[in-house]
Amino acid sequence: MKLLHLDSSILGDNSATRAISAAIVSSLTAADPSIEVTYRDLAAEPLAHLTLDVLGAPDGTPELAEFLDADVLVIGAGMYNFTIPSQLKAWIDRVLIAGKTFRYTAQGPEGLAGDKKVYVALARGGYYGEGQPGAAVEHAESYLRAVLGFVGITNPTFVLAEGLAIDADTREKAVSAALAEAGEVAIAA
Ligand SMILES: Cc1cc2nc3c(=O)[nH]c(=O)nc-3n(C[C@H](O)[C@H](O)[C@H](O)COP(=O)(O)O)c2cc1C
Repeated sequence: MKLLHLDSSILGDNSATRAISAAIVSSLTAADPSIEVTYRDLAAEPLAHLTLDVLGAPDGTPELAEFLDADVLVIGAGMYNFTIPSQLKAWIDRVLIAGKTFRYTAQGPEGLAGDKKVYVALARGGYYGEGQPGAAVEHAESYLRAVLGFVGITNPTFVLAEGLAIDADTREKAVSAALAEAGEVAIAA
């Protein structure tokens, strides 16, 4: 079993999503020590913006090959300016490839990568859940669900910590709860 672990936070050791994504990976590898983990730090080693050369590369990109090869994906994504970090968007631009991860049919688009399990560690400074004033501008979780669904991954698991910018106490409680949830993902799997 192959697991691809992606982090995209620019906040280094102060990142909530790095801690939560690591806890998800620990939970999964503790349950199955034979899992092979590949780690990509999209902030430390950023991919450039998509260009035509990259899009048209005949053999695809290493990022696409890694994605196709993975059985499990763990993604760390903080909400930056209402959506995902641009570092993660650059990665998505390399894996949403017609004919590889989706195709258009007469009945509409069809995802070709639905055989993967995906976990997303998501953190937000404010509150964007259903009924919250911010819900209408939540473009991080909703975007990731749309992208994953487009390639056929319809049941991702989100481990969410929110309200992190409210105050230190709120942050500590939200991150602790998310870490506890992350530590149990293997049990729920
Ligand atoms: C550049 C930047 C932009 C942010 N934009 C938002 C935002 O639009 N909405 C929000 O609720 N929080 C926002 N935040 C707060 C982050 O979502 C929060 O700090 C979260 O923990 C980020 O994940 P990370 O700690 O793993 O980087 C922003 C933080 C940064 C650094």
